[in-house]
Amino acid sequence: MNPPILTVRNLTTRLKLGNTIWTVVDHLGFDLYPGKTLALVGESGCGKSLTALSIMRILPTPPTLPPMGEVIYKGKNLLEISEKEMRKIRGAKIAMIFQDPQSALNPVFSIENQMLEVAARHLNLYGDEAYEKAIKLLEEVGIQQPTERIKDYPHQLSGGMKQRVMIAIALMCEPDIIIADEPTTALDTTIQAQVLKLIRNLQEKKGLALLLITHDMGVVAEMADDVIVMYLSQGVERGTVHQIFDHAAHPYTMALFNARPALHKKGEKLSAIPGNVPTFKHIPNGCRFHTRCPYVMKKCKVGSVPDFEIENKQHQAKCLLHDGTTESKQRFEHPNFGS
Ligand SMILES: Nc1ncnc2c1ncn2[C@@H]1O[C@H](COP(=O)(O)OP(=O)(O)OP(=O)(O)O)[C@@H](O)[C@H]1O
Ligand SMILES: [Mg+2]
Repeated sequence: MNPPILTVRNLTTRLKLGNTIWTVVDHLGFDLYPGKTLALVGESGCGKSLTALSIMRILPTPPTLPPMGEVIYKGKNLLEISEKEMRKIRGAKIAMIFQDPQSALNPVFSIENQMLEVAARHLNLYGDEAYEKAIKLLEEVGIQQPTERIKDYPHQLSGGMKQRVMIAIALMCEPDIIIADEPTTALDTTIQAQVLKLIRNLQEKKGLALLLITHDMGVVAEMADDVIVMYLSQGVERGTVHQIFDHAAHPYTMALFNARPALHKKGEKLSAIPGNVPTFKHIPNGCRFHTRCPYVMKKCKVGSVPDFEIENKQHQAKCLLHDGTTESKQRFEHPNFGS
């Protein structure tokens, strides 16, 4: 296997609201590999987008504080380099695709302007050369009549076309890494499938590393090689897509699958897990999921929970059911799902 192109360790991001500081991304770690997709999945508010924005160093400050930890790209910690250096990487080596292309595209400039601006800024590419590259990319992302469409302004394009243009812009500098935050959530189901297929094809063709943020298990099943399940700002389970789907080890992951019978279907949202979702302002002691967990034991309510290895090192769960004790093994056999 190739070495990782991006290594994230102990990524921690905090929000300062009034006089109080809240941790919204808590010691998160993962590796991104060329040609592979890592899905970051979890309910709304668990810290997925703030993870992406932390890596890109585009957090809203205030209220967030500068992220801590390590984001290693080509031997450098991106959290420590100057903003000037970061600007050469952001959008060029690590590109981001957002949920809402409308807000990422500038409404007052044509697609041509926006693509050529990226070529000039990051690639020092101008004139015919830049134009031809833009046209080729628009073709690649499936835009018909690109020499016509390139003259359009964002409002003249449909949602799916806008998302394709965003992908073309993201690819302009031939990035190593794409971070896609709910890239198809705003699109209807057919277009969603087309855009996902496009992302996957381009990723394979260009050997990109993809960090895919989603709350849709159908998208995870279709796209991911590896998965991190996030709950209340922490990664609570990680593994290959097969390990997560076939041998979920954390009760939260199991709950995500059990929440709805048709959860594997595309477009299904993660919801309807019993119990109230605590907010990051009311993080429970001990295991953060213990207030909603059918397997809860006394020891889950205090202290911090380490990551336990499941069948191999790749598959880990932050859950005391896997601490190897008789109590936990028995509990695993006898969950309490209430009446
Ligand atoms: N600018 C902000 N001010 C206050 N709180 C914020 C701000 N941005 C994010 N948060 C809070 O931080 C937490 C993590 O937010 P984040 O946007 O990363 O969640 P998410 O997992 O991407 O959710 P979703 O699936 O809804 O996009 C949430 O509880 C959110 O309310
Ligand atoms: Mg989000």
